Amino acid sequence: MNRILVIGGTGTVGRQVVSRLAATGGRVRALARDPGKAQLPSQVEVVRGDLTLPETLDACLEGIDTVFLVWTAPAAAVAPALERIAKRARRIVFLSAPLKTAHPLFQQPNAARAIGEQIERLIETLGLQWTFLRPGMFAANALSWWAPQIRAGDVVRWPYLATPTAPIDERDIAAVAVRTLCEDGHAGSEYVLTGPQSLSQFEQVSTIGRVIGRSLRIEEISPDEARRELLTIGPLPAVNMLLQAWGAAIGQPAHVTSTVAQIIGAPPHTFLDWATDNAAAFRA
Ligand SMILES: NC(=O)c1ccc[n+]([C@@H]2O[C@H](COP(=O)([O-])OP(=O)(O)OC[C@H]3O[C@@H](n4cnc5c(N)ncnc54)[C@H](OP(=O)(O)O)[C@@H]3O)[C@@H](O)[C@H]2O)c1
Repeated sequence: MNRILVIGGTGTVGRQVVSRLAATGGRVRALARDPGKAQLPSQVEVVRGDLTLPETLDACLEGIDTVFLVWTAPAAAVAPALERIAKRARRIVFLSAPLKTAHPLFQQPNAARAIGEQIERLIETLGLQWTFLRPGMFAANALSWWAPQIRAGDVVRWPYLATPTAPIDERDIAAVAVRTLCEDGHAGSEYVLTGPQSLSQFEQVSTIGRVIGRSLRIEEISPDEARRELLTIGPLPAVNMLLQAWGAAIGQPAHVTSTVAQIIGAPPHTFLDWATDNAAAFRA
């Protein structure tokens, strides 16, 4: 079996990837900036590394042939880190986004998109076997978007409530990732991954309310109010990126693919499944 390094193994998707690989007896190593805080299964080898300090990557890549890459580091670190990775590994699976999907939710210019395109272009020139995973909106965004308001009271104030997305469960992204990391036949593939249903943001918040047995008051706020009130979920550029995407996508159904089911051979989790399994995070 491949010797796999998961970069981003302590995050939402990477943690699921690491756990699944470890559970199947796979040889998995996780890179973390602070291994002491990683809290990964005991059979996982956790190594210290930082994408912004490329010299720290060499030891992490020792004996590795396949890399799962999650990138949330600054753009300036992309080239040095990827060159280091390409010297050791022969295969890379990159957690990207639906950069080429002609749906307005995915077609707004922003900094995150530019970094994704930069990483993909570089990977394509480095001689690695690559696979790009292109998930749409994560269901897990609800943890930072709505959980704080729902834990604090019964009112959720949110913009663009009518905008639909097809939230994908991180367990489904990870299940696809594990297939692409462990099986042959995925080189050069770009998989657009979504949840099974188009649901408005209003419907998503309502689903959470139903699961935790509370009737939430869901109030539409304007984009300007959101810019003032939603700085708790990220810095202003990140909030603006979301507002632009939601604003552009209002009035048309979310893009839904069957790619998860095709690759893992089972239906993806619904948003109701995700909310049920994460209900504790929304209870006070
Ligand atoms: N949220 C969405 O709806 C959505 C949709 C499509 C695509 N995406 C893409 O998904 C990616 C985020 O995935 P995620 O939510 O699973 O990530 P996440 O939970 O934010 O975790 C980020 C991971 O990156 C690691 N990391 C950050 N800076 C690092 C550095 N300098 N060196 C090494 N590791 C570093 C962190 O590790 P430590 O802190 O432990 O070191 C952590 O494991 C982004 O690229 C985003 O564009 C997100």
